[in-house]
Amino acid sequence: IEIPPSQELGDYSFPCFSLAKQLKKNPNNIASELAAKISSKEFERIEAKGPYLNFFINKKLLAEKALNEILKLREKFGSRKIKEKVLIESPSPNTNKPLHIGHARNIILAQSVKEILKFSGNEALIVNLNNDRGVHICKSLIAYQKYGNNQTPEKLNKKSDHLVGDYYVKFAQELKANPELEKEAQECLVKWEKGDKKTLALWKKMNSWALNGFKETYKKFNLKIDKNYFESKIYKKGKEIVLEEFKKGKVNKKADGAYFVDLSKEGLGEKILLRADGTAIYITQDIYLALLRKKEFNFDKMIYIVASEQNYHFQVLFALLKLFGYDWVNKLYHLNYGLVNLESGRMKSREGTVVDSDDLIQELDSLALEEIEKRYSNLPDKEKKQRAEKIALSALRYYFLKVDKNKEIVFKPEESISFERNTGPYLLYTYARARSILRKAKYKKSKKSIKIPALNDSEKSLISQLSNFPEMAKEAYLSLSPNLIANYSFQLAQIFNEFYHSNPVIGSENEPFLLSLVDSFSQVLKNSLKLLSIETLEEM
Ligand code: ARG
Repeated sequence: IEIPPSQELGDYSFPCFSLAKQLKKNPNNIASELAAKISSKEFERIEAKGPYLNFFINKKLLAEKALNEILKLREKFGSRKIKEKVLIESPSPNTNKPLHIGHARNIILAQSVKEILKFSGNEALIVNLNNDRGVHICKSLIAYQKYGNNQTPEKLNKKSDHLVGDYYVKFAQELKANPELEKEAQECLVKWEKGDKKTLALWKKMNSWALNGFKETYKKFNLKIDKNYFESKIYKKGKEIVLEEFKKGKVNKKADGAYFVDLSKEGLGEKILLRADGTAIYITQDIYLALLRKKEFNFDKMIYIVASEQNYHFQVLFALLKLFGYDWVNKLYHLNYGLVNLESGRMKSREGTVVDSDDLIQELDSLALEEIEKRYSNLPDKEKKQRAEKIALSALRYYFLKVDKNKEIVFKPEESISFERNTGPYLLYTYARARSILRKAKYKKSKKSIKIPALNDSEKSLISQLSNFPEMAKEAYLSLSPNLIANYSFQLAQIFNEFYHSNPVIGSENEPFLLSLVDSFSQVLKNSLKLLSIETLEEM
């Protein structure tokens, strides 16, 4: 069954070519024979057109079904009952610098994926890995030790994770003149793994600065983390697994003492699992972490939301788990996403040219506030601020989610906040407009089933789009693609706006029906935006 390119060819079409072969008949004849034979009250008519059998849905019946169902099920319209337990890993930062715009994309994806999973009836939990040990962490420590003068976030009145990040940048700057620093960082890691008191004390202090700062940022995104993991607490177990697998002969050892596996058969080459000096690397912890989570949650699926720069890492991780005999490795899924750039070019944390998540949100907040000042200057300040925050978040979420997750994004703040284009604020605005019609009309949902009058084209297309929502939500769930939902929402809003321009609702002889249609629209748009983790506003 195909969807024909134009409405004149019906809503669905069946090409008869496949039958032509089997029946050894001309497909045009098959189409006309079938057209004469089948009928159903679901279809206004079924017509042969050349080799195609075209089906025209009975829109009145569709409208009756769709609107009654939407207004009965409300926020549950389109939902399902799959009942799997799914873990989503996000945003898993390193504790040597604040969250940047890439983490924002990560968090936003995770929150949308969570809503999509829940809407399909799954239990979805967000788990976070804090990568709080390793050479990169030692870099911030060393720079602080050398150049920090015992500064504190309080003394400098600075957000604490930003202070940590400053020293990460400082390290990279100093490294240019003094390459020895690289060795110092490696030595610092050895000391840390050996439990050197001074190193540990400084690490604890700076780590808590980083983590406390993250917490504040998560709050701005309304991110709720169900469980936190810390690399510092799990990496040793990772080491043990590597050594056990060495005993079993699945891991090899080099002359210099490094442990590695050869994954060239899988096309992944050789992979070190423990360095020659005995220290663990990034992947060491991940091996154990997967086992730990499986034991703790016995999940049906585990989705790692991590940038596509780490595709190789996850290919290796999954290959290792398979090699070590864990058959549930097929429940693990790497949801990768593309980089986020600004118009000014690629970001680098080390050089301090990143866009920080906190700054980003603040900038969007003030852009949104400007828009609100322009339109509704007489609102109380508190109300303005609350609306601005929601609008800013909707702008960011929508801008990120409307793009295929694998594609890179060039973020343009002003564009994202526009009320008139394909943006989050435009969708919120359209929603609020529908709600204001209902308020003005003092609309109350009638308890009786909705009567459908003769329908015009704009009403028909609005109803079609509304009735497509469940199928679209399912598709987005199966492919974990929020962009399908974003595109659907935008189309829905546009169709509504066209409908609204060509049909005066209030005062029309069909007012009760039209109000039900507006109510159904606002409900479905709300459901759809919820899947993007975007909260609606009743007034805007
Ligand atoms: N902390 C890592 C980074 O910032 C990402 C961790 C991804 N998750 C994992 N289980 N390895 O690059």
